[in-house]
Amino acid sequence: MRPLACVILAAGQGTRMKSELPKPLHEVCGRPMIDHVLATIEQLGAERTVVVVGAGAERLVAALGEGVVACEQPEQLGTGHAAICARPGLDGFTGDVLITYADIPLVTTDTLRRLTEHHRAEGAAATVLTTELPDPTGYGRIIRDGTGAVAAIVEQRDASAEQRAIREINTGIYLFDSEALLSALDRISPDNDQGEYYLTDAIAILVGDGRPVRALITDDPDEVMGINTRVQLAQAERIARDRIREQVMLAGATLIDPPSTLIDAGVTIGPDTIIGHGCQLLGATAIGAGCEIRSGVVLRSATIGDRVLLRDHTVIDEGTVLDGSEVGPFALVRGGSVVGRDCKMGSSAEINRTRMGDGTKMQHFSYLGDTTTGRDCNIGAGVITCNYDGYDKHPTVIEDNVFIGSDSILIAPVTIGAGAYTGAGSVITGDVPAGALAVARARQKNIEGWAERRRRQIERRERQ
Ligand code: UD1
Ligand code: CA
Repeated sequence: MRPLACVILAAGQGTRMKSELPKPLHEVCGRPMIDHVLATIEQLGAERTVVVVGAGAERLVAALGEGVVACEQPEQLGTGHAAICARPGLDGFTGDVLITYADIPLVTTDTLRRLTEHHRAEGAAATVLTTELPDPTGYGRIIRDGTGAVAAIVEQRDASAEQRAIREINTGIYLFDSEALLSALDRISPDNDQGEYYLTDAIAILVGDGRPVRALITDDPDEVMGINTRVQLAQAERIARDRIREQVMLAGATLIDPPSTLIDAGVTIGPDTIIGHGCQLLGATAIGAGCEIRSGVVLRSATIGDRVLLRDHTVIDEGTVLDGSEVGPFALVRGGSVVGRDCKMGSSAEINRTRMGDGTKMQHFSYLGDTTTGRDCNIGAGVITCNYDGYDKHPTVIEDNVFIGSDSILIAPVTIGAGAYTGAGSVITGDVPAGALAVARARQKNIEGWAERRRRQIERRERQ
């Protein structure tokens, strides 16, 4: 098999995005566009990947993974010039060169593979991926000769009225034989309406050399849409979200109301998991099998085990819920917290930087911060840890089988020994030994007949 190199042009200003952020870093489904392209390309098994970046694109370079070569294009003099700037990255390479853009995030590995295969089967010097658009305005048009062979690509602004009527357009994705590419790049001139070096001119140059130049037509224009504005970014987002929803459903998850469910690229969902209306599954979220995720749940970089029930409007923000647990409604798990196996967290309960041991139950309106609990504890309703003293955060340790009475306040740092109890409403300021009951509140006093005496007193006052 011939070696393959990929070049991604990403140096353009992206002026129409009206953004401080380099265009390739704008996100589609929670992932920068350049990452979508790199992930797609990775599947092709390219020997080298070169990204052409603009001057001062430190942020973009920092976002590129290992094994990707960044080449700088100091001034944006056009796509042909950008390809010339990729030369150092291709030094010593012979084989096929795939050229694409960072702003075509939806192209699939399948299509790129078909392009590569077509190019090789035809023994072509260059093959351009084209598509037919109902409205081709703005794109380069594919000019074919009398025999139907590709002759040239003409940009919108350089095209005659007759050429503008052509609906077959250049997607901006090409395969070149490396030697043919380099020889064509040497001869590109900025002799056009914009005074730019057009990569598209390489096509007519190779045709002029008598080299075989081919086109592969794709019938899915969505896939090759280029993102120039935020309106197009939103369109791409919609198309990509549809694809992801389809993938997770085909992989065995039920979406009760697909259009209302937001799922980021890379989220995984196990079979027989049911996702309710209006959920957002974001970042590096992974959900196991047989879970029930009810309406309005937000999972951001969350890990959810198997058979987990997340009741309505629960938020897991960088947290883990292990197998068989039930959480919510309106619960919040954050700060890397872990809910163990077969746990229960009630309504409006919150944990932060906390680990809950297996089988522990935490009731409604309670808060644990910087806490570790053992197994099979009961954390009563309204319990809170005071983990912050205004300067520092302090840990709370609750050992196995502890019962924290409702409305207890645990002032950290504090340790509650195994099997101990705290009385409801206690303010616990010191450690509790294993097996003890800690009560820290005023003892109850009953004043007999008080209510009757008070009533008579008021009646007397009113008669005077
Ligand atoms: C280009 C094609 C056009 C095609 C269209 C598809 C040329 C001359 N025209 O037009 O035929 O239909 O794409 O979307 O190639 N870039 C650089 N350095 C530069 C200029 C551009 O890296 O100096 C990069 C941009 O970051 C972008 C890509 O190349 O990712 C395309 O550039 P853009 O200016 O958007 O090309 P179009 O005018 O859309
Ligand atoms: Ca473009």
